[in-house]
Amino acid sequence: MLFKLAPKETRKELYDRERELEELHRLTKTEWVIILGKRMTGKTSLLKTFLNEVGGVYINLMGVRSIRGLVEELAKHTGKIGVEVSIPPLLRVSWTRLAVDIFSRFEGKIIGLDEVQELPANYFLRLLKKIWDTYNLRIVFTGSIMGVIKKLIEPGAESPMYGRSPAILELKPFTHEQSRDFLLRGFNECGLRVRDEEISETIELLNGYVGWLTYYGNYRCIRGLDHRRALEKVYEEGKKIVLEELNHFLEHRKNREKYILLLKSLPANWSTLEAKIGVNSKILSQMLKALENAFLVEKKGKTYTITDPILKKLVLEL
Ligand SMILES: Nc1ncnc2c1ncn2[C@@H]1O[C@H](COP(=O)(O)OP(=O)(O)O)[C@@H](O)[C@H]1O
Ligand SMILES: [Mg+2]
Repeated sequence: MLFKLAPKETRKELYDRERELEELHRLTKTEWVIILGKRMTGKTSLLKTFLNEVGGVYINLMGVRSIRGLVEELAKHTGKIGVEVSIPPLLRVSWTRLAVDIFSRFEGKIIGLDEVQELPANYFLRLLKKIWDTYNLRIVFTGSIMGVIKKLIEPGAESPMYGRSPAILELKPFTHEQSRDFLLRGFNECGLRVRDEEISETIELLNGYVGWLTYYGNYRCIRGLDHRRALEKVYEEGKKIVLEELNHFLEHRKNREKYILLLKSLPANWSTLEAKIGVNSKILSQMLKALENAFLVEKKGKTYTITDPILKKLVLEL
């Protein structure tokens, strides 16, 4: 069902994404791959569907910030490939060595590591190099372009992954036509007749984010809300998700207030921001880069904008 809220896991449930699936099949024959894209564009759904088709292993690393955490997540899945791993109760165990050992058990498989951005980059990259050089296993990553993903995409000459960059598959939001088709098919599936103006307004507001479209459809079809109420509810629920991500992004940043001011000032071009934010151009440029890398802000022509409709509305309330 298209309006099911959980990530999709089979091609039948997934709207379109045929090209992306074929590309994953082709690339993973020889490459490691990173799936990039904004939240709610369907990265997890694409990854899970693909892994199901190739008998791969899906590992969710959201919130995992250490190699030990990675080992613990990996160990949960070894049962599925028929090996048991016991984590020794030693105080001085080398988590990296243990991680390499567990990865080696997946030889010949494709492993999907979802949301890797919080792993400690240096340890993780060294671990990846060892795996890359030694074992025949393929990895598909997802995450925003912060931390470790950034270092994987642009490894400096000193990086253990220099010359070993994964291929990139970028997942874009739907076009208006795709959004319309998605909604019409979903409503058709659940047998609900919806007015054309309601469809058009929803497409306009939700800006091609399949996740938000799915929530809207779900609220109408499954929970029986009317158009207005469903849109409000998408915003209410979406806000929680987006706020958590935003707070996470701001967590370790000194100039939190400046970031918020910047976000509130969008859409805007460079000179407007320079005049308004009150930081020097080097800092402003770093701030914008960080926001772009986290997929919170996008540069369109000369204008910096927020494309996520939920975030756009949310920042005005901060
Ligand atoms: N191609 C698709 N067809 C149908 N539903 C989708 C598709 N992609 C994502 N969804 C739905 O959108 C929501 C967000 O998807 P998810 O895969 O978690 O996105 P991401 O990992 O990019 O945040 C989920 O409810 C999921 O079921
Ligand atoms: Mg996801």
